Amino acid sequence: MSKLWGGRFEAPADELVEALGESVSFDARLAPWDIQGSVAHARMLGQQGIISQADADAIIAGLETLASEIAQGQFHWDPALEDVHTNIEAALTERIGDAGKRLHTGRSRNDQIALDTRMWARDQAAAVREGLTALMRALIDFGEAHVETLLPGCTHLQHAQPVLLGHHALAYVEMLRRDRERFAELHNRINVLPLGSAALAGTPYPIDRECVARELGFDSVSRNSMDAVSDRDFAVEFCADAAIVMMHLSRLCEELILWSTPEYGFITIGDAFTTGSSIMPQKKNPDVAELVRGKTARVYGDVTAILTLMKGLPLTYNRDMQEDKLPLFDASDTVQLCLAAMARMIPAVEVHAGRMEAAAREGFLEATDLADYLVEKGVPFREAHHTIGRIVAHCVKHGLRLGDLPEEELRAYSGEFGADALDLLDPRAIVERRGHVGGTAALRVREALQEARAAL
Ligand code: ARG
Repeated sequence: MSKLWGGRFEAPADELVEALGESVSFDARLAPWDIQGSVAHARMLGQQGIISQADADAIIAGLETLASEIAQGQFHWDPALEDVHTNIEAALTERIGDAGKRLHTGRSRNDQIALDTRMWARDQAAAVREGLTALMRALIDFGEAHVETLLPGCTHLQHAQPVLLGHHALAYVEMLRRDRERFAELHNRINVLPLGSAALAGTPYPIDRECVARELGFDSVSRNSMDAVSDRDFAVEFCADAAIVMMHLSRLCEELILWSTPEYGFITIGDAFTTGSSIMPQKKNPDVAELVRGKTARVYGDVTAILTLMKGLPLTYNRDMQEDKLPLFDASDTVQLCLAAMARMIPAVEVHAGRMEAAAREGFLEATDLADYLVEKGVPFREAHHTIGRIVAHCVKHGLRLGDLPEEELRAYSGEFGADALDLLDPRAIVERRGHVGGTAALRVREALQEARAAL
């Protein structure tokens, strides 16, 4: 089979050109979208009288046969034919003869690959949104099951103030909601039809782009042919949005890993999501959480690769851009796999509520509320902060908790302390005092869980 651009060449390509230039080994997965795009293009060519109706019909029937062969794994992909487009076009021509050679009228592989990648990315963005929703649902279920469980809220990984585990879980739901929004907004920028731009300048044939856009579910057609064949912003954005998801997942994983250590003892991750050691029989390692955290690095690499790929490329299409698929596919596959694994792992997390609550009573998490008590009595906050700091130092020195100090001893630090001060110190009371929107009081957390579920 001669190369599709063979006409003006006399010498064959160097033997390394195929290894370097073939993309079918990775872009064959675009075949279903490539064929859908070609069917719409052929139908439009027939309708506009650019090719005969008989040719259009033959092309469409031929493409449909190829689609099912490919779906059944019966298609032979040939790297000598470079990419998904030429493999399919060559097979089509082999089956239906000359009509197949008319499919590419008014089109270039430059607008064709832009089309395929957009259609593929549109479907993957929807799949990522579903993956995010599934994980959000798992976290909401988890939050509901443990809505009343106390745990120490941290800053700097140091005990700060008590919070409810439901509130903690909802913090991740918020992150994932923003991620889902990002992928929904990305959809709008993906969903512009590039086909019709041809190589870069458009085509002299009387094409009907709107009709192709409608058939393929695009909201609009591109306004500039040069931009349309050279724009990969949507692919960069896809990788970047995926990287943000991974950043969120890795934070959650880090907490699960810490919480499952014997030092914390807050949770046990189910057997199905942990693995043993080949040498240490006692081990139960949180590998799934570690792998998701690790795969975050890959997706960051994908963003860097695709940004660097596009940097400095002059208009319009450049062959460099063939390399965009590797990071794009990898970012999409990785984020979808990790979201699915996390959605299955969360229900397998067993919470040791007693241990968590005990920890919420260690580390002076009541200190801020005790300072607030003095503020209510009219002490300026800075002064109250200093006074409580001295009390804490005293407790640390003598191995006491704030609640261990009798009222008289508190009064030695400030005359404003009354008998009611000690009532404040219960972590549950502390949580309940944060009843504003966005606060950790149980009622608010229940409301927030309901709101989040409704938003699924
Ligand atoms: N395989 C190519 C890619 O992925 C398709 C476009 C080829 N265009 C070209 N002018 N060589 O970018």
